[in-house]
Amino acid sequence: MPLHTADLKSRFHALDAFLLGHQNLWRPKPFTHRHLPWEAQHPELSTWLRQRSLEQAEAAHNHPEELDAPAPFNLIAAQSKALSDIDALPRIELDRVSSRMSVDVPGRKWQQIEAFASSLSFQHRPTHWLDWCSGKGHLGRRLAHQGQALTYLEYDPKLVEAGQQLSAKLHITADHVQQDVMAADAQRQLQANHTPIALHACGDLHVRLMQLASDAHCQRMAIAPCCYNRIASDHYQALSTEGQASALELSLDDLGLPLSETVTAGSRVRRQRDTSMARRLAFDLMQRELRGIDDYLPTPSLPSAWLDKPFADYCRDLAELKQLPPPDKQNWTVLETAGWQRLAEVRNLELLRNLYRRPLELWLILDRALYLQQRNYHVRVGTFCDSHLTPRNLLILAERN
Ligand SMILES: C[S@@+](CC[C@H](N)C(=O)[O-])C[C@H]1O[C@@H](n2cnc3c(N)ncnc32)[C@H](O)[C@@H]1O
Repeated sequence: MPLHTADLKSRFHALDAFLLGHQNLWRPKPFTHRHLPWEAQHPELSTWLRQRSLEQAEAAHNHPEELDAPAPFNLIAAQSKALSDIDALPRIELDRVSSRMSVDVPGRKWQQIEAFASSLSFQHRPTHWLDWCSGKGHLGRRLAHQGQALTYLEYDPKLVEAGQQLSAKLHITADHVQQDVMAADAQRQLQANHTPIALHACGDLHVRLMQLASDAHCQRMAIAPCCYNRIASDHYQALSTEGQASALELSLDDLGLPLSETVTAGSRVRRQRDTSMARRLAFDLMQRELRGIDDYLPTPSLPSAWLDKPFADYCRDLAELKQLPPPDKQNWTVLETAGWQRLAEVRNLELLRNLYRRPLELWLILDRALYLQQRNYHVRVGTFCDSHLTPRNLLILAERN
């Protein structure tokens, strides 16, 4: 069963207790710590994870709960799994549409749209869709048929124009409005007869929708959140009474944890990502020595051309950029190998942290769901597609009581 009104609170409290009680296990990032505080408490698990290869870490990355690792990993994995357990929302039959509708849409995106659309099992049929932060508007176009009105809100003029052209080409009547949804005048775009739909609107954007749509008494809405860390404030501002009463404080870094699950990338992209991280980890070892301070030093993101430089030049240039003394007496081969070794260790140690990815995401989703419930909505939460289509597969359906 998807989570309903009565379950929302109890699940939220269980997740809250789990996350609060285990902060020492999920907060510290292996990438920035040479030794994690929990390793001294759980030496067997630490040694076991540290001796595994990069390939083994990669294989377990998206399903760490299936890993047969020493205690307390297995115990936490079981708790994580139970607390993250959530069913798919019931499916409805969709009107068939012409295959021309999906011509300009990347394959995976279209499948997400079809899944989102067929999970909108509202009690009453919407009469006016409002596609929030719509991009080119593929979702709205998939939904609006048989006399239903359609309005788009999007602030990027190029996307608004591309959307208009697509609607014209497909003979779909829609109102394409260029609107910054964060602007003070966004409220005037919402009316009670609108059914707002938001597929992957980032952090503040979907929170804004929940606030404005509930103020406008919209009868129903559907939101699949993403990028919880794209917010203007420097830490999370809870929305519901329960969230606000929680002692859990979430930094932007913490809010990035649910987003760390990756959809399988091609081997070239993976190799590039790994090289970049192995180099950064090698540089980190070097900078600790150069500075005589055993602490992580943040480095800026670098153009990908930096990866074409020989390893020694990469380290020298980055040292200069960070105004460190020039690294003269380095054995570059040894340092580069140490970077790759550290990468394997970091990725395996991260598997423990990854057990908290879905519980934290569900905590954030339930904070949103409870907020809407407190604003007089009946709320259901469930998945709208399989995680291989998109890891951001949770959907909040709200209908005004
Ligand atoms: C991740 S995309 C999702 C687009 C679309 N819903 C989809 O699933 O394909 C987020 C969209 O929000 C738009 N956006 C970002 N900030 C916005 C703002 N302040 N007001 C309106 N739209 C915004 C972006 O231009 C982008 O099209």
